Amino acid sequence: MPADTASVIVKGIGAYVPARIVTNDELSKTVDTSDEWIRTRSGISERHVADPDQATSDLATQAALAAMADANVSPEDIDLIIVATMSPDMAFPSTACLVQSKIGAGCIAAFDITAACSGFLYALETGTRMLKAGDYRHALIIGAEKMTSLMDWDDRTTCVLFGDGAGAVVLGKSDEPGTGVIDSILRADGERPSLLYMPAGGSARPASAETVANHEHFLKMNGKEIFKVAVRDMGKVALDLLDKVGVKPEEVACFIPHQANIRIIESMVARMGVPMDKFLINIDRFGNTSAASIPIALEEARRTGKVKSGDYVLMAAFGAGLTWGASLVKLT
Ligand code: ACO
Repeated sequence: MPADTASVIVKGIGAYVPARIVTNDELSKTVDTSDEWIRTRSGISERHVADPDQATSDLATQAALAAMADANVSPEDIDLIIVATMSPDMAFPSTACLVQSKIGAGCIAAFDITAACSGFLYALETGTRMLKAGDYRHALIIGAEKMTSLMDWDDRTTCVLFGDGAGAVVLGKSDEPGTGVIDSILRADGERPSLLYMPAGGSARPASAETVANHEHFLKMNGKEIFKVAVRDMGKVALDLLDKVGVKPEEVACFIPHQANIRIIESMVARMGVPMDKFLINIDRFGNTSAASIPIALEEARRTGKVKSGDYVLMAAFGAGLTWGASLVKLT
């Protein structure tokens, strides 16, 4: 039986977004929308879009390599890969297995987690617990999405909101107590799955000529209902977590909310009573990248000096399922 480790720490952070940027103006040439509508309703100005020959595993691999370089670890140091994604390369094998091969890791443990936009936090908690209890040395925790592959470009209520990208962290162990991943709260409520879902392509409704003709292989969303739930639950779970671990909001250097809509973030800020400048906001440049949104923002927070070693970072997310959650990390 392996001994419990004192702390699981973030040893490296990396992110990757495809080079191609699509502005709202460019989108409005093919979709019945406008820069003004998208900006005022969502806060998005542009998003990165993957090339047709780039799959989610390619984005994930680039982010993983960046995180490994930042952590100064090589492929043989990695013995667990978890990829959070709702846009895997294919239903099976897992995207994590494809990443394992692409980064040249050994025959280690690798699997995907599906919790939509909350996926990175679910993966972070799973990886942390596996490192704490098991004999794994380093875990790659990746959030990666090619959301544009799930878009119905005839549905202006969804296709303007999402973008592609990936972010990753390398988790390792430390004997120092009270640092690294402090704690998480994860929640799910499957009572209303069709608030945000893809109707066909699974066992309930296998692909057929009819499902393709009906556009059932695309993301469908009840934006108004999701909005209400997100505003209610994302701020609450963040405060519940701080309460649970005994850290005050003013002790947190940076709050990283899932980047789905600037209005959701503003409501969350108002409910939490935390100054807006403590929030990392980059939705204007990336749109909603689902499971990739938090690690992409975390990488930006660290790179731009918004967070540094010793700082508390609170991450909160919500997404399809419905799922939601929060994680508190003390950077080392
Ligand atoms: N361009 C122009 N007009 C549009 C567009 C568009 N792209 N999309 C919708 N409209 C129109 C609608 O047709 C409607 O017109 P009508 O009044 O004539 O019927 C009008 O704009 C208003 O539409 P609403 O749906 O009321 O707009 P709302 O203010 O609710 O904003 C939005 C919609 C942006 C989707 C918002 O509800 C939202 O952000 N919801 C949360 C969604 C979310 O966070 N999803 C991600 C979850 S995370 C995950 O797991 C992936």
